[in-house]
Amino acid sequence: MRTMQTVTEKGLDHSILPMRLYHKAKKLGIWDPRDIDFTKDAEDWAGFSDIQRAILLRLCSLFQAGEEAVTRDLLPLIRAISLEGRLEEEMYLATFLWEEAKHTEVFRRFLDEVACEKNDLTAMHGPNYRAIFDTQLPASMERLIHDPSPAAQAEASVTYNMVVEGVLAETGYYAFYNMLQANGKMPGLLRAIGYLKKDESRHIGYGTYLLSRLISEQDEIWQVVQRRIQQLMPYAVGVVSELFEVLNQQLDAVAAAGEELFELDQQDFMNYAMKQFQSRMNVLERARGKSVDEIYHVSEATVGVLD
Ligand SMILES: [Fe+2]
Ligand SMILES: [Fe+2]
Repeated sequence: MRTMQTVTEKGLDHSILPMRLYHKAKKLGIWDPRDIDFTKDAEDWAGFSDIQRAILLRLCSLFQAGEEAVTRDLLPLIRAISLEGRLEEEMYLATFLWEEAKHTEVFRRFLDEVACEKNDLTAMHGPNYRAIFDTQLPASMERLIHDPSPAAQAEASVTYNMVVEGVLAETGYYAFYNMLQANGKMPGLLRAIGYLKKDESRHIGYGTYLLSRLISEQDEIWQVVQRRIQQLMPYAVGVVSELFEVLNQQLDAVAAAGEELFELDQQDFMNYAMKQFQSRMNVLERARGKSVDEIYHVSEATVGVLD
């Protein structure tokens, strides 16, 4: 016979971070991709040059496929957490998966209704991007189906939360948001990305919490985390370089034509990625030797959750 936690004296623990994230997600994660007004975006798009459109389309294709990948790959982690009977974490993860589905929806809406793009954009993804999204991410998540061990969970979370969300998505949204905001174009897309940034801060916050908990429960996990980061960093840096290899040529062409679209500075982009990444690594390192109870009650600010 199974015991249901919520009919025992345990009830639900509203004080632990995942449950606080769950309550936050119910308030902040309920925006509807269909409510975003893309009218001005469609006008802006019509006024862009071919090169300007090509740049935006390339960035959107990376975000679009990335959001689909994280929607499709999260389930094994939810199952692993559920099998451990961590009901509050599972409740939070239910909001997580639904948010990724909406992120997938909103980019496709943009491609359909603003860019009116019907072509296959797969060729825009370089070898490093494909290594992460076609191989490393699905393999580390699917491994949890037959091996839900703490080490496998740590490798999956480093891949999904620290590298894909923490380095690639968050940095990508940061760059995209800044460049669009600076020139007042694409207000609908800008609004969507504003929502995405908040949602992602909860996702990465949960990942930081999960890894901290695994490290505090078993100190060897810290080595697992470091090893996995070393494996993946060359690919993550490769994604940025292969993107800028193409973008720099296109941006030069935009500048040569005297067009003003936006500036995208590779160094600024990398600096931001590394700063965010390092601050999370510091949180994880500090989890060593902490009690699990302290980790449960970590603050939203410590794990970088936005309001
Ligand atoms: Fe997302
Ligand atoms: Fe996410």
